[in-house]
Amino acid sequence: MFSEKMDSKVKILLALMSVTIVGVFLRGCTVKYYAYQYQRACACDKCVSEANPWFMQRFNKSVEPFLSAKHNLTESTFNWWKRLQGERGSLSSYSKTVKGLFQVFPARPQLEEPSPYRCRTCAVVGNSGNLRGSLYGPMINFHDVIIRMNTGRIKGYEADVGNRTTHRIMYPESAVNLDNTTHLVLFPFKIQDLLWVTKALTTGFRGTSYMPVKSKIKANKNLVMVINPAFMQYVHETWLKKRGRYPSTGFMALVMALHICDEIHVFGYGADKDGNWSHYWETLHNKKLKTGVHPGTNEYATILELAKQQKIKFYPGW
Ligand code: C5P
Repeated sequence: MFSEKMDSKVKILLALMSVTIVGVFLRGCTVKYYAYQYQRACACDKCVSEANPWFMQRFNKSVEPFLSAKHNLTESTFNWWKRLQGERGSLSSYSKTVKGLFQVFPARPQLEEPSPYRCRTCAVVGNSGNLRGSLYGPMINFHDVIIRMNTGRIKGYEADVGNRTTHRIMYPESAVNLDNTTHLVLFPFKIQDLLWVTKALTTGFRGTSYMPVKSKIKANKNLVMVINPAFMQYVHETWLKKRGRYPSTGFMALVMALHICDEIHVFGYGADKDGNWSHYWETLHNKKLKTGVHPGTNEYATILELAKQQKIKFYPGW
């Protein structure tokens, strides 16, 4: 009789203990689930990478914006890339040149990693004439990362475009000298471009292109980054649905910013009243320029949509 009573007490105790253990375990899971659910991607009011159906149809986090020593290009991407400017070399000569590149430049791109405790703000500054008289300069200077491109001038235009630059995107034919703290970001369109950046920062480059190319250039070798051809293909195919010959420097720079920034402010994009991509520092003489080989209208429409989807803040200038 006594042992029967004991038995049932033990059973009740064991049942209570099991319920408690399961409860504690489930509570732990729920807390972890909510922490995971509400873990912010960044510390800004809004983070670019946060889900949005329109954006998620285009944004592919897994495409690496920059080349690294470990990176390999697929044959199909190489074949896409070599058509951009009529490259005749082979994939193996591309790979050999990339190997040489990383004997001179850092093996991995220098990037600020995303964190829930950090807000990486970026200004992307295109070269549109709509910057003239805009007085955007102080606002541009305020960002952590300031991305400019090609020959975009600063001296004499500080009030409209600011004077800080952390990254300048260029290709050999559009190269300018940089100060010691600015990242040179190369957009390569052919194998010679990869060779150019290696030589122009060391022994000097000898070669010709469709335009004169600087044999030497000033820039900090430790801050060089090279855009991944696979990233260029992704921008062309996924973002622009293969429109135009290939994306403009400015559009690729903007998608690059979507991949490395948390909050993006966009300045200096938009054709003039005749539909030409004129620059803020010069008067355009070639009135038939339009937007060159690039799908300017689609690029601009996508920029406006990104602003509508609150993924960027767009400053249209005047
Ligand atoms: O002329 P450039 O290529 O140096 O200009 C840099 C980028 O700025 C272009 O690739 C284009 O995306 C953008 N741009 C623009 N409207 C202009 C001039 C340039 O959107 N009027």
